[in-house]
Amino acid sequence: MKTGGEADRISILHLQTFQPSFLRFVDDAPPPNNIKTMPSQYDTIGSQYDMIKRTTFNRIEQHNFRKHVSPFLQNSNTRVLDLACGTGFYSHLLLSWGASSVVGVDLSPVMVEAATNRLSETLYADQAVFRCGNGFGRDPVKNLSGQEGEDFDIVTGVWFLNYAKDKEEMIEGFRTIASNLKPSGALIAVCPNPVEDLDTLAASVNACPHSPSGVLYKYPKKLENGEGYVMTVKVLPPLLERREVEPLQFSGFHLRRSLWEEAARAAGMTGRLEWNVCEIPEEIGEDTEEWKSLRRNPQLAVLIVYKK
Ligand SMILES: C[S@@+](CC[C@H](N)C(=O)[O-])C[C@H]1O[C@@H](n2cnc3c(N)ncnc32)[C@H](O)[C@@H]1O
Repeated sequence: MKTGGEADRISILHLQTFQPSFLRFVDDAPPPNNIKTMPSQYDTIGSQYDMIKRTTFNRIEQHNFRKHVSPFLQNSNTRVLDLACGTGFYSHLLLSWGASSVVGVDLSPVMVEAATNRLSETLYADQAVFRCGNGFGRDPVKNLSGQEGEDFDIVTGVWFLNYAKDKEEMIEGFRTIASNLKPSGALIAVCPNPVEDLDTLAASVNACPHSPSGVLYKYPKKLENGEGYVMTVKVLPPLLERREVEPLQFSGFHLRRSLWEEAARAAGMTGRLEWNVCEIPEEIGEDTEEWKSLRRNPQLAVLIVYKK
């Protein structure tokens, strides 16, 4: 069973200065399910993923995520579970925006190691811990947080639920979220544009050869179950890096809007559910056809769902 090697060792060091209750996980809890049998595309991508953080797309994403997560960080004791934390980019920002602690979980040991390294070099090293885990696992409560569950004030998932290949897996993802949240807690997720008619969206997006955000989406394949599309993402290196660096590509799924809503309810997330359409701040967008097209088909949205 591979649990992240060096990354886990570093996490344990942090755990000792963080919250003693987490030590229970290290000593007693079973290892997360499916890690070895589910190699992730991100094991290969690793820290290269951070190229996306230097694009205009990320300025838009950050603006929208911060706007919607900040109200939850006003309380001085907000504990965050950051699912699909990747290299810890947002785990770090969440702490700088006011979170009191962050537990980051990711399927890929390579990403977990990158996140651990990122935070170890910051002022927030004692407030963060990272570990491997499958957010769609069947017994996620102890496996993910190391606690009994119902513990976090908020769960964040910046591009987490779009890895669910069907409604069933989406329900598993929402179950993980529900079982780790306090009753008053909420999910704040960055996800694809919530539309019901994905055929029209896919045709329109596939017709665009360029993207002014530096991130180009494509919908190469409709899922056989009719629930959505495979979505590929191509990240163009920022201008100054183009000579040395190849574009980065990865893929996920875009399921239709009603399935997200039904999955949340089926998993026990029964409180208010709001989709927040992506805002493109004026200082970022321009008055060109490409930007107009991006405004018509935004590349992301922020979903907020309260547990109760
Ligand atoms: C697009 S990256 C986003 C990373 C980070 N949230 C960010 O915005 O910088 C998606 C991440 O989801 C992780 N991931 C995919 N499926 C997962 C699963 N079932 N459980 C946990 N993490 C998963 C990948 O390993 C990858 O690090």
